[in-house]
Amino acid sequence: MSNLSLPSSSKLLDHDFVFGVATSSFQIEGAADSRLESIWDTFCATPGKISDASNGLVACEHVKFWREDVELIDSLGVDAYRFSISWPRVVKKDGSLNDKGMQFYIDLVEELVKRNIKPFVTLYHWDLPQHLEEKGGWLNRETAFHFEHYVNLVAKALGDRVYAYATLNEPFCSAYLGYENGVHAPGKRGQANGRKSAHHLLLAHGLGIRALRRNCPDTKAGIVLNFTPCYPETQVAEDIKAAKIADDYINQWYMRPVMEGLYPDVVELIEPQNRPDILPGDMDLISQRLDFLGVNFYTRLKYRSDGKGWYEELQPKGVVTTDMGWEVYPKALSELLISLHQRYTLPPVYITENGAAMQDEIKHGRVNDQDRIDYFQSHLNAVDDASQQGVDIAGYFAWSLMDNFEWAEGYEKRFGIVYVDYLTQSRTIKDSGLAYKQLITSR
Ligand code: FCB
Repeated sequence: MSNLSLPSSSKLLDHDFVFGVATSSFQIEGAADSRLESIWDTFCATPGKISDASNGLVACEHVKFWREDVELIDSLGVDAYRFSISWPRVVKKDGSLNDKGMQFYIDLVEELVKRNIKPFVTLYHWDLPQHLEEKGGWLNRETAFHFEHYVNLVAKALGDRVYAYATLNEPFCSAYLGYENGVHAPGKRGQANGRKSAHHLLLAHGLGIRALRRNCPDTKAGIVLNFTPCYPETQVAEDIKAAKIADDYINQWYMRPVMEGLYPDVVELIEPQNRPDILPGDMDLISQRLDFLGVNFYTRLKYRSDGKGWYEELQPKGVVTTDMGWEVYPKALSELLISLHQRYTLPPVYITENGAAMQDEIKHGRVNDQDRIDYFQSHLNAVDDASQQGVDIAGYFAWSLMDNFEWAEGYEKRFGIVYVDYLTQSRTIKDSGLAYKQLITSR
């Protein structure tokens, strides 16, 4: 097993740089009988949606084993733990607080604080209460106001014991995968659905920030966006233009409203009836000042022109990929961070997710995942490069703490730095987890 390392001059080794691990509620918690249903329960119960026909009813049984899991997190020596709150666990159908559900997170946060591990809370990591979906979900503007109410309840209960709150995780995935191409819950399709739900999600972000400022003004508040940088297949002008359209449609559609209160120019290429319904005041709410930007990064994609003024996405071919089929291309991470820094006035950036699914095998209690260590090393180098070039990067979170329910891929894809045996729920730190710990504790 090789170690992870950084040059001794690296800012990532400064004492205030935060190293963490990340998870999300639906992917690990289980204990579905003690919460309301979410859109992911419904989606999982629909035949053909999840590749191994699994669901989140049991998952990693984190609600049962959370004390052991916190012990495990602590044993890795990390500074922070990023997790999400399950909205259907903490708010009842009538909008009142579910005390028992909230107590779970109060206890978790207290235990983390006691151990000097910074809690990074994500308020929405895709598990919308099913009863709200039945009223239109993110296609209904009202959902954004339900979100504000939920954020109020959480912020009152957890307050500034939380180090940093993120309103949303990856609104691109909720809107595009959930409402435009339908591969994620709730499985709706169509451009108008995708664009309108994206706007309501961004509005929810703005209302959420307002609720956080009101209730816990001294805690950091931000958002987590995912970026899949778009590269042209060739240097021909049409392909360069296609890659730019793709970037606007996929990445900047979320980034620009949040940073500048404007949708990217690509909105003009969309049929008027498919465009978002923007009311006066929306864009101001969406572009409030943030304390941090969370960046999730896994891979890049290549594009070419479809000959009709739009883009065509290419499948990675002849390149190194992870078990997800995603190209390993760390240079895109440094280029992304530098380009965001050049283009926008950024708050401090946390890399809130980065990691890889690999074909792990457990043998005699050990997982030798050198491929994952290599992935982490090359991406940490990319973060370090960007930091040396002036991007203010405050932290890095490995996705994920442990193997878990990987959405439409079920349990077949393993992203953890800890191996989970789903039959016994035993956890085994993989070699990548040991290497990560070694890097962190050697600072
Ligand atoms: C991100 C999600 C996270 C996990 C990783 C692999 O898009 O935020 O929950 O599924 O991808």
